Amino acid sequence: MHKLPTINFTNKRNLKPGSTSWLATSIEATRSLEEYGCFIAEFDKVTPELNDAVFKGLQDLFDLPIEVKVQNKSAKPLYGYVGQIPFIPLYESMGFDYSNTPDGVKSFVDVMWPNENEAFSATVLAYNRLAAELEEMVTRMVFETYGVEKYLDAHRKMVTYLCRGMKYRAPEKNETNMGFVPHTDKDFITVLHQNGVNGLEVKARDGQWFTVELKPSSYIVMSGDGAMAWSNERLYSPFHRVTMNGNENRYSIAQFSFLEGIIETPKEFVDEEHPLLFKPFDHLKYLEFYSRPENRTLESALKAYSPEKNETNMGFVPHTDKDFITVLHQNGVNGLEVKARDGQWFTVELKPSSYIVMSGDGAMAWSNERLYSPFHRVTMNGNENRYSIAQFSFLEGIIETPKEFVDEEHPLLFKPFDHLKYLEFYSRPENRTLESALKAYCGV
Ligand SMILES: [Fe+2]
Repeated sequence: MHKLPTINFTNKRNLKPGSTSWLATSIEATRSLEEYGCFIAEFDKVTPELNDAVFKGLQDLFDLPIEVKVQNKSAKPLYGYVGQIPFIPLYESMGFDYSNTPDGVKSFVDVMWPNENEAFSATVLAYNRLAAELEEMVTRMVFETYGVEKYLDAHRKMVTYLCRGMKYRAPEKNETNMGFVPHTDKDFITVLHQNGVNGLEVKARDGQWFTVELKPSSYIVMSGDGAMAWSNERLYSPFHRVTMNGNENRYSIAQFSFLEGIIETPKEFVDEEHPLLFKPFDHLKYLEFYSRPENRTLESALKAYSPEKNETNMGFVPHTDKDFITVLHQNGVNGLEVKARDGQWFTVELKPSSYIVMSGDGAMAWSNERLYSPFHRVTMNGNENRYSIAQFSFLEGIIETPKEFVDEEHPLLFKPFDHLKYLEFYSRPENRTLESALKAYCGV
């Protein structure tokens, strides 16, 4: 079972650059960001009083009327109010940039409280400055550990912070407990803090999800896609999500570092064994790319992003067919990729006289999962257009697993269901990003 390392950022001696314990802490922090993409920091610069004020402030903020909260907007993509989304009903959040500066805080608070809220402004500014100190310390440790500290000044000049306050209300009876969908952070380094209520889950490199349990004095430090690209994939940008158990609301506050400028991998990370994986790219343009709906479900937005073209080579997103049996045929241009049962994607190369025959969700349910309905996608390489024609078989009626597929070792997996009603279920936007629409619809 995985457990995040806890690293001590409270001992003043540990935090004196150049000291032996600073070096030891630097290595520990960097290795944790490599292995898990995050660690727990014990950090005592935020006093218990300030800590309480932060969460009291967040509660007041989210208690504002919805008409006020939706006024939280930004010219930058993904920086404003998020909430009232049917498939993540527990989640609400607000964000603002330049969050460790008086002007940044003021421009946010002026919109939320036109008659001022000085206490909130002072609290959030004080908190964000301390969170930025922690981020600066960790970033410096990472640059030093990799021997690339000569790039640190240039990096620091480009860093700006986005602060996001988040509320996850406790689920009601019969409601999803999903607080937020799996995602990677798109920034460089995130510093995340929560009220006493746990819920964060992180996906380890081996694919296992594990829960992160935090004390009130604990912070999560996490590397995002920016740091992963910069380090040529030495640092890891982990998938993480929020699952709400229990009856208490969870409040959290994150400060994300974004570069106003280009993320470029230092040549020190590149050699024969480690070829360059990412071209230099504008960090905020990457965020803009990710913010488009068609890019939100990519497995790795970072890999799909091409800074020159500013256009993805993704022909179609990963999906399973919803029918029974598909017959697919294409012009001479390849592009179909299939995900094997072991999770590996591979390309299908076809002669002009070839056809793909594929089983869909209908066949998988009918056969009690003997037949497989594979994820597949289209990736466009080269300069030619691809045309294809598919014929899908659908049942006008009920799909029911014959009893011959069911025994003690193979319990029934899917209830009988109307095939076209399943298609209707899948067509709703909130069901398009489910890992298995089939299991959600008619799984036993
Ligand atoms: Fe996140």
